Amino acid sequence: MPLTLNIQLAADAPRGAAIGIGVLSTSKGPQLPPGVSLSAATLKGRGFEAKLGQTLAIVGRGGTQILVGLGDTGSLTVDSFRTAAAALARASYNETTLVTALVDAAPGRLDRAGVAQAVTEGLLLATYVFTPYKSKPTSRPLTQVVLTGRRGRIAAQGVATGQLVAEAAALTRDLVNEPAMTLTPKRFAELATTVGATHGIEVTVWDENDIERERLGGIRGVSLGSDEPPRFVKLTYTPKGAKGKVPTIALVGKGITFDSGGLSLKPNDGMLTMKCDMAGAGAVLGVMSVLTRLAPQCRVTGYLCITENMPGPSAFKLLDVLTARNGKTVEIHNPDAEGRLVLMDGLSLAVEDKADAIIDLATLTGAAIVALGNDMCALLCNNAAFRTQILDASERAGEDMWHLPLYKKYRKHLDSSIADMKNIGLPMQAGTIVAGLFLEEFVDGRPWAHLDIAGPAFTSNDEGLITRGGTGFGVRTLIETIMNFKAPSPK
Ligand code: BES
Ligand code: MN
Ligand code: ZN
Repeated sequence: MPLTLNIQLAADAPRGAAIGIGVLSTSKGPQLPPGVSLSAATLKGRGFEAKLGQTLAIVGRGGTQILVGLGDTGSLTVDSFRTAAAALARASYNETTLVTALVDAAPGRLDRAGVAQAVTEGLLLATYVFTPYKSKPTSRPLTQVVLTGRRGRIAAQGVATGQLVAEAAALTRDLVNEPAMTLTPKRFAELATTVGATHGIEVTVWDENDIERERLGGIRGVSLGSDEPPRFVKLTYTPKGAKGKVPTIALVGKGITFDSGGLSLKPNDGMLTMKCDMAGAGAVLGVMSVLTRLAPQCRVTGYLCITENMPGPSAFKLLDVLTARNGKTVEIHNPDAEGRLVLMDGLSLAVEDKADAIIDLATLTGAAIVALGNDMCALLCNNAAFRTQILDASERAGEDMWHLPLYKKYRKHLDSSIADMKNIGLPMQAGTIVAGLFLEEFVDGRPWAHLDIAGPAFTSNDEGLITRGGTGFGVRTLIETIMNFKAPSPK
């Protein structure tokens, strides 16, 4: 859904607007800026300690002031401003206009464009709503935020970037929130085509016949149990006026529009959220949609591996053997481990296209949720320099991740008696790592990172930056990685 909150940079505040005020905490309590007349006792009485993201609304004769905690000055990061802005937007829901000089509350050691970007993202991400299926959609009064303080090109640039990041995340969230009944593989591919035409990205769509002819055996195999035909989509962004050879980064997304588990059918509770199983491909499309406007200096290719996983009469069966695009064969021991099967074709194609680095995103394993919970994703990576680029980007973007090893000793868990490998490892043993080792078979040693976003892609929470449903996880880190990308040397 379009983002309805308008964000502007202006020198003067419009009259009658609520005022958002960032407050640092100190050992002596909250440090109130001039113009706020509240006693320390009142603040204490109302429980406001200026902890990061804490808010307090003060309604007075002069209008409404909303205090938002920033925490203590020593631990302020760019991401603190994203968190504070999200809290401020939530506390201002019932105002129509909010004015804040939050960007200027940042200490000089923090990158000013980055802070303006983070504030913009926080405001927009926290106010996202998805209402197409409400017969009576409610809307929030808040429609405008004016960022005051020192202006200038740097802050304006940050705001513009933040708006694009939030737009990309909103597209991803819309795609994830859309029911599987309407977001079929065919429809997903059509939307990708529209995104490409609107935003100057080259798009190629392969239908079920192309998929078979081009030997994408994983996507085809998984699709067999569904009446909905699969799609494979390739998107390409090429920087304008790029001189000589520019590096290429490939983004590969798992696009299972519904994961029933196939013949190994999931129970109701496990299946309940499985419209979200295309969140990886959704994030890739979200990112691609803003690249011409962000104008990074590298080429970016996106590969969306899209199909349903259903248990229909033609479904692929246990102990069937599928052949991936790169020729490797896989014996199916569990049709519910389908994500890796569609990704193996996408990764093979990224290798054929000679990408300098590859990132795949996938709601791949329940084991990642067991290991890390819902607030961070698992990162598996075969290249130290590339891993550092991604971890640095994720820190600035405020998307948490933790690195797990591609532990070679567990490769034998995938050994098959008749094919090159099985599609699952051993029960209860390092499921996320073994899935990573499976994917590694298809990257031919190129610098590659796998983000298992099974935990953070979809949520029942409604707080801070996220609202119930799709979260857009990965979009911010991918954009930050792309904007700073340097081709890593292959090990
Ligand atoms: N899409 C699921 C993983 C998932 C679980 C995503 C929960 C989001 C929330 C994936 O296709 C799956 O079913 N994985 C299996 C793999 C197993 C059969 C090896 C799992 O994790 O149980
Ligand atoms: Mn599955
Ligand atoms: Zn799945």
